[in-house]
Parts: sequence; structure tokens; C-alpha cells
Amino acid sequence: MLLDTFQRPVKDLRISVTDRCNFRCTYCMPLDDYDWLAKSEILTFEEITRLARLFVQLGVEKIRLTGGEPLARRDLERLVASLSAIDGLRDICLTTNGSTLAEKAAVLKAAGLRRINVSLDSLKPDRFRQITKRGDLKKVLNGLFAAKEQGFSPIKINAVIERGVNDDEIIDLVAFSREHGFAIRFIEFMDVGNANHWQSDKIVSKQEIIHTINTRFPLQEIGRKGGNAPSVDYQYVDGAGGDIGVIASITEPFCSSCTRARLTADGRLVTCLFANTGHNLKVLLRGGMTDEKLLDVLRSVWLQRKDRYSEERLAALHSATGYDPKEHKKIEMISLGG
Ligand SMILES: C[S@@+](CC[C@H](N)C(=O)[O-])C[C@H]1O[C@@H](n2cnc3c(N)ncnc32)[C@H](O)[C@@H]1O
Ligand code: SF4
Repeated sequence: MLLDTFQRPVKDLRISVTDRCNFRCTYCMPLDDYDWLAKSEILTFEEITRLARLFVQLGVEKIRLTGGEPLARRDLERLVASLSAIDGLRDICLTTNGSTLAEKAAVLKAAGLRRINVSLDSLKPDRFRQITKRGDLKKVLNGLFAAKEQGFSPIKINAVIERGVNDDEIIDLVAFSREHGFAIRFIEFMDVGNANHWQSDKIVSKQEIIHTINTRFPLQEIGRKGGNAPSVDYQYVDGAGGDIGVIASITEPFCSSCTRARLTADGRLVTCLFANTGHNLKVLLRGGMTDEKLLDVLRSVWLQRKDRYSEERLAALHSATGYDPKEHKKIEMISLGG
């Protein structure tokens, strides 16, 4: 088995299929204008599928398509179909802002996609618009219900909770997900990229989120799925369906069990969400490198992997000097894929 310097295997691949997005979520893409990658810079579906097949040979079992907004990439269902045909790949998932999901749910299902994560941080139309700057809540809700109608399972809501922004909606989001049979994952506000004005006092910790939910919907902890999932999961004590969890990258880092590799839209292999650099695979692909040689490169990058950023951040947060995100230049979330 291929293991990195901390004995972690590579099991998950997150593929950013585009850096573009029709939203400007304040915690992710706070600027109005971005210099988008040129089309020629972005990996083709054939290039992505070739790399995905090689990663599966090295141990990857799950692929998540993300971005930017993955549904902004034209004909994404073609990629889903070719990834679905890879032997040994157990699971393909999509993380989307849901704004065009109502139109795409049927073709994605037909292409072989079975489960979907939809980001939804507020059920109040005005607030939703403020957070996303351009989003229309109704369209996202329509997307969620269209996915349900198509039989996607599970459908998970991802909600980033930021103090003073939407921390008063934790219970409402849980009630909504329970009512409609959606799973829900709360995400601690993270210092991704370089422009999201992250401050530690804006975090609502996992402990606080669980405490709030417990006051209305008592929970019982299940733990991390497979022992290495980012989310700590819970079930409702009253037996209601739809599971619930929290991704606590800040207060309970899970670096020691992180098995995720990331491929940027322009073909860089990145070994941590908070990395500042990646390994350029596109030049190798386009330079005519054979599969055997490419496998050697992937192996060598993973063997040298020593990222444990969130554990280091937690130690810094607890230290006398503290933690200043501005001292750590990172790749933007939109190119990395969340
Ligand atoms: C970068 S987005 C890409 C996929 C798609 N556009 C979406 O919004 O679902 C992936 C996930 O990252 C989350 N995310 C983005 N910035 C974040 C931040 N600063 N802290 C925590 N989660 C963040 C989003 O909420 C979303 O669930
Ligand atoms: S979180 Fe998703 S929808 Fe929001 S700006 Fe980032 S990529 Fe776009």
C-alpha cells in the first residue's frame, strides 16, 4: 500500500473541474472579479479520467467533483459517465452550490451519479443573497428537491456557520433537513485562500454547534465514517432519519487520518487544502508521459507528503504568539476544490 510520511494511504481524490463560479460566497470568493483560467489551461475530461484511473490504481476509492462551481463546467455528465466506468472506483460524489441542479439532476443521474452535496448556509432569501452575493435561494431549494425526485441518496446539505452571520439558523437548518430527509454537515468557518478575512472569533466551534442542536434535537455521536472521514457524525436520539455531522477542521483537526489528494482545474496535484503549491501534472500529461512514468510521479509525490496544516494551526492558536492566517499564503479554494 502507498503510504505518505505519516503512514496515510491515498483513498480520496477531489477534482476541481473549473475555477469559475456564479456565486461569490463571502467566506470563499470575497472579491468581485477574478482572473479566470483560460480554457486551454483547464484539464480536458479525457485528461481528468486518465489521471483518475491512475489514482485508482494507487488506492483511490472515492472521487468528489467540485470547483469553483462544478455545474458551471459544460457537459459535466460526460465526465461523470467516464469516471463511472473506472474499475475499482467505489464512489463518485458532486459538491455543488445547487443553483442549476434542477436543470441538471436528471442527466447527472443517468450518467451514473448517485449522491450529491449541496451547499446551503441560510434559509432566509435576503441573507442567502448576502452570503453568496449573487445567489437565489429558491433556485437552490428547487435543485435540492429535483435531486430528491431523481432518487439521489444521500443528499447532503453543507452549511458553513460563521458567527454573527448565520449562527442563529443552526436549528432551522437541522429542522429543514430532518423534514425533507436530507443529511446535513455543518462546517467550521476555515481560513481557506487568502482573502476571506478569517478571524478565530468568527468560528462557531463543533462543540458549540452540537450543544445548540442538542437543546432541540438530542444527538448521539457515531464517530467518523470509515475512521477517516472529515465529519464527525451523529444520529438523532428520537430515531428520525437523515444523518447529521460536523466538519471541525479548526477545533478538532483530522490531519492524522487525512487520505485526500486534490487535483486543481489546471492539473496540479495538491496534498492539503491549505497548501501553497502543487505538482504540475498537466505539463507531464501534455508532454506525452506514459502511464508508468506518471504513476511513478504520483507515487513519489504521495510518499513525500507531510502536510498537517490544521494540526499546526491549532497548536499555533493555543500558543502565546497565536495564529495569523496572513502569514500563510495558500492556493485559493476555487482552484483547489473544497
Ligand atoms: C469551494 S465549494 C465548491 C463547490 C460548490 N461551488 C459549492 O459551493 O458547494 C466546496 C465547499 O467548500 C465550502 N467552503 C468554502 N469556503 C469555506 C470556508 N472558508 N470555510 C469552510 N467551508 C468553506 C463551501 O461551503 C462548499 O460546501
Ligand atoms: S463556496 Fe462554492 S458557490 Fe460559494 S463562491 Fe465558493 S465555489 Fe462558489
